[in-house]
Amino acid sequence: MKPIKVGLLGLGTVGTGVVRIVEGHQEDLQRQVGSPIRIEKILVQNPTKARNIAVDAGKLTDDPWDIIRDPEIDVIIEVMGGIEPTKGFILEALSRGKHIVTANKDLMALHGTEILAKAVEHRCDVLYEASVAGGIPIIRTLAEGFSSDRITKIMGIVNGTTNYILTKMSQEGAAYEDVLKEAQELGYAEADPTSDVEGLDAARKMTILGSLGFGVNVELSDVSVKGITGITKEDILYGKKLGYEVKLLGIAERQDDHISISVQPTMVKTSHPISSVNGVFNAVYVYGEAVGETMFYGPGAGELPTATSIVADLVAVVKNLRLGVNGRKVLAPYKEKKLKTDEQ
Ligand code: NDP
Ligand code: HSE
Repeated sequence: MKPIKVGLLGLGTVGTGVVRIVEGHQEDLQRQVGSPIRIEKILVQNPTKARNIAVDAGKLTDDPWDIIRDPEIDVIIEVMGGIEPTKGFILEALSRGKHIVTANKDLMALHGTEILAKAVEHRCDVLYEASVAGGIPIIRTLAEGFSSDRITKIMGIVNGTTNYILTKMSQEGAAYEDVLKEAQELGYAEADPTSDVEGLDAARKMTILGSLGFGVNVELSDVSVKGITGITKEDILYGKKLGYEVKLLGIAERQDDHISISVQPTMVKTSHPISSVNGVFNAVYVYGEAVGETMFYGPGAGELPTATSIVADLVAVVKNLRLGVNGRKVLAPYKEKKLKTDEQ
């Protein structure tokens, strides 16, 4: 069967993982979707830079339009990050009928409504499983797994970098700056790690989870945010003595027509399972009126876990292509409905 042609925007930590999985699991992927999947072109800033992966130099380009305007490309995977020029690339690709898979929580938290509306207009898929909690399929779970229930609360650790830092400070007494550097070297941190440590990355993710879980448009400005920069080794050790671990928790709660969403460092009793979620691991608790308490756990960042979610989205897009049903399944509200928040 005719191969599915993919354009990849970005070949950093996550893009490298995507190439590895698409190449390494080609046979399994092909079996599921019924045709080969080929990464045809890859956008980078610097095509001559040394890479952690061997790719055909002819595939690398620094011209985004070479990919976006290529009529042969069916799907674009966006793993370059940032708001602009990325948003412009995605909107243009959608207007040309290309399906999008993205890991970009900054973009989806701020402009998800506009992007999803454009996708519906052009009958395209926009899937973004990797934007929250790396390798945990939490977006699909919220959008589909709990469609029969009324979600009342979502709580969790949704940033791997800060959990890695807090864990190393707690278990090894390590210095904050040293562990942050390690997290950057491991590819967990954002290009600007301030968004990790100041809690913004987690706030963006809670915006996405809140929108999906409560079925309304949650704005990033609705989230009250505090990061971990003010947490000292002494705070952590003192908490430990009293039987607590410090965790950066995101909490989104609904009460009738009111929601509150926050991200803040929290003392968690060591008897609670979330206190044992360590390193780059994330955990998300979802509470539903009917189901009660559920917990989802797994690696929250890094090359292969994140790429796993991206390639799963790619498989979903290609299956939809085969069925001719792209653009019919929107994994978020794109209407103007908005719930009252604490601020209102
Ligand atoms: P990296 O910084 O490692 O990679 C970014 C890639 O995009 C690089 O290959 C870079 O090119 C390319 N790029 C960036 N800007 C441009 C531009 N303007 N034009 C052309 N190419 C560009 O990022 P990550 O892989 O870590 O993250 C990518 C996305 O995935 C982000 O949205 C991030 O938030 C998200 N994400 C990351 C996770 C992680 O664990 N790292 C987990 C979940 C989501 P070059 O190589 O030439 O510099
Ligand atoms: N910087 C993010 C984190 C990457 O540490 O969780 C995954 O979204």
